[in-house]
Amino acid sequence: MKFGILGTGMVGATIAKKLAGLGHDVRVGSRTRTADNVTFAEAASFGDIVFNCTKGSALRAVLEAAGPANLRNKILIDTSNPLDFSKGGMPSLFTDSGDSLGEQIQRALPETKVVKSLNTINCNIMVDPKRVAGGDHTVFVCGNDADAKKNVSELLGGFGWKHIVDLGDITASRGVEAYLLLWLRAYGALGTADFNVKIVR
Ligand SMILES: NC(=O)c1ccc[n+]([C@@H]2O[C@H](COP(=O)([O-])OP(=O)(O)OC[C@H]3O[C@@H](n4cnc5c(N)ncnc54)[C@H](OP(=O)(O)O)[C@@H]3O)[C@@H](O)[C@H]2O)c1
Repeated sequence: MKFGILGTGMVGATIAKKLAGLGHDVRVGSRTRTADNVTFAEAASFGDIVFNCTKGSALRAVLEAAGPANLRNKILIDTSNPLDFSKGGMPSLFTDSGDSLGEQIQRALPETKVVKSLNTINCNIMVDPKRVAGGDHTVFVCGNDADAKKNVSELLGGFGWKHIVDLGDITASRGVEAYLLLWLRAYGALGTADFNVKIVR
């Protein structure tokens, strides 16, 4: 399958490497084309499925550069978080509690099937859940399109995820993005990003 990755940071690079290792064709998009990367528009156009792995605060610029037409009728997996580092110290969220980046993307791209996932986990665990507790922990998906979430869940299964919780429509992005406030505290307390949560009942 053909995947476009928007983002050249740790997340984009890690997911791109994993997908290539699984035999998929991958193009990684950036603001500027280099020997290693294509542009955001080229990556969006190339992928049958596209990942958003860009800085949360850059969302508007990224979507404009990627081009809504290049993402029409496609699944866009959003891994981003609305972290505001500008005030120093612990970051806060720059979105209102009644909104989220997942919803902003879905509103901006009504003909794209946005699925929020993987944003609650460090990138190394995203593609290798066994790294922690033998893989016995939870990844979330949410989005408005049931088939898109099913496809994304199958893809996550290929990454090694066994415990995938569907939180419902894209408004559930509010919860998984706000979880970052807890994630950052846990990171500080534990001194490692190699951790995750598990939903039990
Ligand atoms: N790091 C993790 O393990 C982790 C885990 C979960 C979720 N996340 C979330 O995943 C996303 C990616 O994180 P990351 O650490 O890999 O990288 P990042 O540094 O947050 O983002 C890098 C990407 O954002 C683009 N970008 C930055 N400023 C921009 C601007 N003004 N206009 C357009 N594009 C801009 C960069 O473009 P260029 O390629 O042109 O430089 C680059 O592709 C973030 O939203 C983060 O919160 C990260």
